[in-house]
Amino acid sequence: MLDIRIERTATPKAKPTDETKLGFGHIFTDHMFIMNYDTGLGWHDARIVPYGEISLSPAAMCLHYGQEIFEGLKAYRTADGSVQLFRPDENFKRMNVSADRMVIPELNIEDCLYALKTLVKMEEEWVPHTEGASLYIRPFIIATDPYVGVRPADHYMFIIILSPSGAYYSTGLNPVKIYVEKQYVRAVRGGTGFAKTAANYAISLKGQQEAHDQDYEQVLWLDGVEQKYIEEVGSMNIMFVIDGEVVTPELTGSVLPGITRKSALEICRKKGMKVSERRITIDEVAKAYDEGKLNEVFGTGTAAVISPVGHLKWGDKIMTINDNKIGPVSQMLYDTMTGIQWGKIADEYNWIVKI
Ligand code: COI
Repeated sequence: MLDIRIERTATPKAKPTDETKLGFGHIFTDHMFIMNYDTGLGWHDARIVPYGEISLSPAAMCLHYGQEIFEGLKAYRTADGSVQLFRPDENFKRMNVSADRMVIPELNIEDCLYALKTLVKMEEEWVPHTEGASLYIRPFIIATDPYVGVRPADHYMFIIILSPSGAYYSTGLNPVKIYVEKQYVRAVRGGTGFAKTAANYAISLKGQQEAHDQDYEQVLWLDGVEQKYIEEVGSMNIMFVIDGEVVTPELTGSVLPGITRKSALEICRKKGMKVSERRITIDEVAKAYDEGKLNEVFGTGTAAVISPVGHLKWGDKIMTINDNKIGPVSQMLYDTMTGIQWGKIADEYNWIVKI
């Protein structure tokens, strides 16, 4: 088992008093997990230390060439006061897939799970007690060599930080407004679209800013070659209910393999719904809308959970989905997913890991 050195803070912070106003990703707990990697030594020096600034050379490679990967998952408090995680093994498996793409050394998944559980246990009191709020977990790896040449690094830090958070979108479960991006692209075949790496998010900011200027919350990305096929939103995967069938873009390499996406598809299949993972064009969505067959649109993500989409803007065409209200499939998925996560309904899928 991983040997973790523990150094407790001498100055614990005050916990948020109003858990209905946490926002997303602003507040951090008292401790963090850190482990280093050096070529020849492997991952070593696992420790939980007071949350605080880390020291990096201004030449650290992650700052120049973005050799970085991250994950996002949550810890939830159940009605009996216990704390649980949702499919954390899936996050560390995906982290190793991202690591491979970004030439970052792999992690031992069992060690990561043990480190995460130890840290969350220590910070248990920070897991919100309020409905809808949870402890957002952000594991990440950065390349730290002080070197400004381009090559894979020899030194890395793996860090886990924790943030008590509410809904990712300020609209909560109210439908979001999404703008179909026509100018910029997020990912191309052979690129890094499937990896959870900083560049995929940095590249999305320009489109997001322009969407915000038009009062839209997020951007729906189309494929990077023909700008025809739907990919994802950037902070979540996207699903459509067309004539009763749940349709979502297949994982072609430029779309993030979301864990909420995978779980939502499993729930729909188990309920006997018609589901298809396939290429889908924006023209097909617009045609379905014109024919009155576009029943629902929603996003899936750890931070976003299930986010209904109320407006989809594609050029001059504005599609108002399900009268700008949450639809029955989105509601069912939200209730099932959050029911399992908060321990309100039985976990018949074996997804929950108790702390
Ligand atoms: C998550 O859903 O956990 C993510 O990593 C998305 C991020 C943009 C907040």
